[in-house]
Amino acid sequence: MLVFATEMINKAHAGHYAIGQFNINNMEWIKAILTAAEEMKSPVILGVSEGAGKYMCGFDNVVGMVKHIHDYLKITVPVALHLDHGTYEGAKACLEAGFTSIMFDGSHFPFEENLEKSKELIALAHSTGRSIECEVGGIGGSEDGVTSSGELADPKECATIAGLGVDFLAAGIGNIHGVYPENWAGLNFDRLSEIQTATNGKPLVLHGGTGIPTEQIKKAISLGVSKINVNTELQLQFAAATRKYVEEGKDLDIGKKGFDPRKLLKPGFEAMVEITKAKIKEFGSDGKAF
Ligand code: 13P
Repeated sequence: MLVFATEMINKAHAGHYAIGQFNINNMEWIKAILTAAEEMKSPVILGVSEGAGKYMCGFDNVVGMVKHIHDYLKITVPVALHLDHGTYEGAKACLEAGFTSIMFDGSHFPFEENLEKSKELIALAHSTGRSIECEVGGIGGSEDGVTSSGELADPKECATIAGLGVDFLAAGIGNIHGVYPENWAGLNFDRLSEIQTATNGKPLVLHGGTGIPTEQIKKAISLGVSKINVNTELQLQFAAATRKYVEEGKDLDIGKKGFDPRKLLKPGFEAMVEITKAKIKEFGSDGKAF
């Protein structure tokens, strides 16, 4: 059974570790992330952007696929299915489809509008026990068409949204989606501390989890980050392993049927299991499933 994300995140916040949200794209991604979490005895969040939802033929299909794969693999660790950077309409559609957790990203609206919509969606999610994440201050870069220049979130605005009863809060602290540029200034820990104080210890979410150095990850967790989102990293690992297989000409081996998709996709799948396990270890959620 899929679970709401509130309990796992609150436990992580109290225990000073973070839960990984790994974004999914298809069956290989779902299987790889669930396999890694089960092996590491870690709770996990499967993230779905609206673009990935469309790619997987709609939110109902995503819910069905995740539930069936979860049961087929006999997964015992807590797993939440979470909408990533949801629109107002998308958030409602995911609640209807059976997601156990949603994110509403109203950071591009004027703050009053973000506040009003967040308030409504928090009440709606909580009416059926589901967890909800909201966002203040854009995360830099672009993910599935959601683009922002990456501001530092205003602690006062964070406090206002936290006061609405949101379960966990995404706040811009210099983090960027995708690969970090060479001249990236790093995370702004002063702002992170201010936000943690202003929100009275609300669990915070660090987006753009690909490529952040381990010391910065550890420091962010020590300052109140309890959920870290990773998307690009699995895509890079999958692509590199698949490239290697093809460059070695293995897909051309007719005798061994190297072109069989189950063989062609296997190195990429295995690379995703390994990187997910490594991230879980880095975030400190290994062994925290029960
Ligand atoms: P990356 O793609 O940079 O890992 O960011 C993922 C993310 O923040 C999803 O919301």
